[in-house]
Amino acid sequence: MTATTTHLATPRVRHRATEAELLDVAAAIEATREEYDRVRHVVPEAEWATFAQDVVAIKELKRTRDAVVLAHNYQTPEIFHGVADLVGDSLALARMAQEVEASTIVLAGVPFMAETAKLLNPGKTVLVPDAGAGCSLADGITPEDVLALRAAHPGVPVVTYVNSSAAVKAVSDVCCTSGNVERIVRHLGAEKIICVPDEYLARNVAEATGVEVITHPARCEVHERFSVADVEQIRAERPGITVVAHPECHPDVVAAADVAGSTAHMLDYVRTQRPAQVALITECSMADNIRAAQPETEYVQPCNLCPHMRRSTLAGIRAALETGGPEVVLEESTAAAARRAVERMLELS
Ligand code: 13P
Ligand code: SF4
Repeated sequence: MTATTTHLATPRVRHRATEAELLDVAAAIEATREEYDRVRHVVPEAEWATFAQDVVAIKELKRTRDAVVLAHNYQTPEIFHGVADLVGDSLALARMAQEVEASTIVLAGVPFMAETAKLLNPGKTVLVPDAGAGCSLADGITPEDVLALRAAHPGVPVVTYVNSSAAVKAVSDVCCTSGNVERIVRHLGAEKIICVPDEYLARNVAEATGVEVITHPARCEVHERFSVADVEQIRAERPGITVVAHPECHPDVVAAADVAGSTAHMLDYVRTQRPAQVALITECSMADNIRAAQPETEYVQPCNLCPHMRRSTLAGIRAALETGGPEVVLEESTAAAARRAVERMLELS
């Protein structure tokens, strides 16, 4: 991936606005009424005033650059509801990336998601708002770690979470997401598998399927912070609340929850079951995005923010569209092997 950096600061707040600039902001607010209506329950009007010009500019840039914005469920509401054309969990984003017709995709998320989009669309331009954003899972494993596990467990299939680099995917048999890991593991029909890099996701799938799972000690820095004591405290404070946990949480936290699943599963659960109160044991923006569309549910929203996801901003998306970078560039032999693992996942799910 190219190492170009995007400018993330908005100059607007650094100087006294001129009359002309204030008029521009007022016009942008007027032009983004529809977008604001979608987030009015979670974004104050004064805050929207700082987003409106970027939203207008991104709408126009998408049109002139034949681009679409795909956003992960953890993106903040002004991105998720304001400029994204398609939103979803990691699995949905991979599927959508295959179907996109526009010549440019901006992936509002973290770089491994943009790499997956590029793997599935080698002919398209894939841009990421901040190429320097990381992920404690993707950064927690190397191809050498996978090869060492293969050498220690000959013949055992390697199931790799999409939260990994293309180089790690390239030495794997099949990828998975939190939305399809159980299905993939069951489909393999093996007594033993290697599941990397997320130790907790691997332990949770072992628990759900009864398959013996060899793990690697990487964890999501957002989800590993949740404890059973947190769940107990939420239940004590709000009797009857439904607790929904992401499978990147410790297995004891998943066991203490009522429901576990990917971010798309969480969204579906709240939309279809319409619980009066729900605690979302996951990244903080998730609840904002659901609340924007379904304000009548009461949300307990533990404020664990992913610092990597937060590096995607409206200013970064706008700059990516204006400059055509940072662009995801993958070495072709690595990409071909990684693509096989991702495509196999999509076939099996
Ligand atoms: P999903 O949206 O696939 O559940 O993944 C969560 C996550 O942590 C992505 O970084
Ligand atoms: Fe990675 Fe966790 Fe952030 Fe997702 S939430 S990008 S898994 S650190």
